[in-house]
Amino acid sequence: MNKDLQSIVLTEEQIREKVTAAAAWLDERYKGKKPLAVSVLKGSVMFFCDLVRAMNTPVQIDFMTVSSYGASSESSGMPKIVMDLAASVKGRDVLLVEDIVDSGYTLQRMRDLLIGRGAQSFTVVALFDKPARRQVDVKADYACFEIGDEFIVGYGLDYAQQYRNLPYVGILKREIYEK
Ligand code: PRP
Repeated sequence: MNKDLQSIVLTEEQIREKVTAAAAWLDERYKGKKPLAVSVLKGSVMFFCDLVRAMNTPVQIDFMTVSSYGASSESSGMPKIVMDLAASVKGRDVLLVEDIVDSGYTLQRMRDLLIGRGAQSFTVVALFDKPARRQVDVKADYACFEIGDEFIVGYGLDYAQQYRNLPYVGILKREIYEK
């Protein structure tokens, strides 16, 4: 385990199990359809790649970079679109893939934006849900794992752009982000 972590939340094996279950749920939901899977970068990159590869549904993929935390542990409340999608979402079944729904501001922004652009349907899968931190009334359609108000990193999730490449998810020691 990385020395900056106090404990592991999801091991690589547990992540694989969660990904397999989420992919099966999506395959059932999208029978006969060709959704556009959207990765909300950077945090969802690892989960996204594993999830779409575990699905049998023929998906197209696209990417959007959205940022609201910077180096802070509190959301700015105004997620910034750093890089937009290449594809049009008009008439598409959009599958939004998030690593975590925290305050909910990012999800709210993405939902309003993509439905506003004419998406036919909008489904959200998140690896983590942190309901205790929610500021706006949004919810993932499928959340793999519910977590309390802990600072988690790894498997795409960062603190000040670090720890994203850990293959597991763990709780960051307080002394790291409070120093
Ligand atoms: C994180 C995470 C989600 C969002 C969730 O992204 O990847 O997209 O915050 O938080 P919220 O529900 O409070 O909006 P961040 O803005 O830190 O950018 P990153 O994906 O590049 O880490």
